[in-house]
Amino acid sequence: MNEGPIGIFDSGVGGTSIWKEIYKLLPNENTLYLADSKNAPYGEKTKAEILKLSIKNTEFLLENGCKIIVVACNTATTNAIAQLRATYSVPFIGIEPAIKPAALQSKSKTVGVLATKGTLTSHFFHSTSENHAQGIRIIEQVGTGLVPLIEEGKAQSEETEALLKKFLEPMINSGIDYLVLGCTHYPYLIPTLKKLLPVNVKIIDSGEAVARQTRFVLERNMLFNSSDQTGRHQFFGNADIRTLKSLLDDVDAKIEVSQLAF
Ligand code: DGL
Repeated sequence: MNEGPIGIFDSGVGGTSIWKEIYKLLPNENTLYLADSKNAPYGEKTKAEILKLSIKNTEFLLENGCKIIVVACNTATTNAIAQLRATYSVPFIGIEPAIKPAALQSKSKTVGVLATKGTLTSHFFHSTSENHAQGIRIIEQVGTGLVPLIEEGKAQSEETEALLKKFLEPMINSGIDYLVLGCTHYPYLIPTLKKLLPVNVKIIDSGEAVARQTRFVLERNMLFNSSDQTGRHQFFGNADIRTLKSLLDDVDAKIEVSQLAF
């Protein structure tokens, strides 16, 4: 029956943007989401710290019977997924900034990438940009401060808008026509980003691609849940869970959100 849930973790609430895409594509699967908000932001931590937290999160999900794990965090993927795959036998799906599609479609040959320091300084990120963005100018920007604001439920605030304005200016001045969102928290900034970006700049994130990859991995490993019931979705947060709840408010699904001492 393969009723075990799809395990999903992030440094906090951002991975819910990925969960929403997975739910859209795979409505019959059960899911278990872990928001390690107590330790956010991961982006300012060392690789060793990110790895340690990623192992802890993975073990929680495995102890709760997850059949595959989606690392719904660019920072944890770029810093820890290789070690996770080498340590555990379940399949892992990771997320990385969507540089390839942006580079392929950019007409101005200039692409902006907004991500955490942990992602932008990782070896993984650099090899991806070198492989997929030849002949393309990549304007990188660390989004310092954005994750904590989103965790506090302030994605649409004036404070966030002012920070984004500052971050986008060099990219706009360089003539980007694609902005890659390299952090799963950032899709919650899209309304503000649209307000600040010139109309020709397209925003791209990796949510749909991760959901498609999740479906592909389930299929390849014969792990689809054959139940025809809609799935059950458990969300756990280890800090204030109000933002987690509010980001799921608009979703029509069987959702339980709980606080966890973790
Ligand atoms: N959602 C995480 C990511 O995709 C945020 C990382 C952080 O906590 O800094 O990178």
